[in-house]
Amino acid sequence: MSFSADWLALREPADRAARRRAAATWAPLRAMARSEGAAGPLRVLDLGAGTGSNLRALAPWLGGAQRWRTVDHDARLLAAQPAALGRWARSIGARSAGEASRIDAGGFSVELERIAADLADPVAFDALFARADIDLVTASALLDLVGEDWLHRWVDRCGAAGAAVHAALSVDGRWTVVPADRGDARLRRAFARDQRRDKGLGRALGEMAPRVAARRLRAAGYRVVTARSDWVMHATAHRALVHELLSGMAAAAIAADPAHRALHAAWLRRRLAALRRGRLRMRVGHVDLTATR
Ligand SMILES: C[S@@+](CC[C@H](N)C(=O)[O-])C[C@H]1O[C@@H](n2cnc3c(N)ncnc32)[C@H](O)[C@@H]1O
Repeated sequence: MSFSADWLALREPADRAARRRAAATWAPLRAMARSEGAAGPLRVLDLGAGTGSNLRALAPWLGGAQRWRTVDHDARLLAAQPAALGRWARSIGARSAGEASRIDAGGFSVELERIAADLADPVAFDALFARADIDLVTASALLDLVGEDWLHRWVDRCGAAGAAVHAALSVDGRWTVVPADRGDARLRRAFARDQRRDKGLGRALGEMAPRVAARRLRAAGYRVVTARSDWVMHATAHRALVHELLSGMAAAAIAADPAHRALHAAWLRRRLAALRRGRLRMRVGHVDLTATR
């Protein structure tokens, strides 16, 4: 499955606000960063990194010297990382060099290696973990795309590496649009079916991802803290994001339930009309998770 850099940029402010709602997951992560980072740079592996949003969110509050490897299979997104990270570095008054492969903000510094790899390829996947130099494995907006076997393998590799885990912004199936619409229930069923579709990493866990991940990590001996990191959106403040979301949901529902194409399309028309009138509010449930030993 592919994602556009524009979509990732559109969601990034909502992601940042959502992460702030999940502050309970930060304390164990910071404690880990302080103890692991004391001996040398904190070594972070970011899976499905896109344009680097997870790095931009985490690096400032992990603090200290950090060495990141950002992994994605999408060459366009990896190529967009230097510009996105460079803009961000300037916005926070940090120095960046070498196409943003070195960022120094005073309170933290990042050395970055970008890696093109397909996480569906077991050999490439295992190679990421082969170097015994990982303190933290992280991912944002990825776990709901993966299948159960992939997730088990991921937990096994994280455990064997002795790495902490931080998985942000996994959808948990809660979503509401206010005011309610007569087409919501049908749309919800079809959309939920699409969420379980294979996105390239096995039949996707979708809304089950946060629970399955927490259970598996606990079984592997991790202490797991989770907190809700919902997107909370209003028609006026988040118009473009809500527009994209509603359109994407309707498209997914139509793909999963083509027999009711006309009904889902009508739902979208009514929803976009309400959005234009500035009347819509929307909440999308996510969960952030930190697992430490
Ligand atoms: C929803 S986006 C999230 C991107 C980024 N973490 C963020 O929060 O903005 C999912 C990311 O996973 C990447 N991805 C999906 N399947 C992948 C695979 N099989 N191998 C590597 N990356 C993959 C996509 O290219 C995309 O960048």
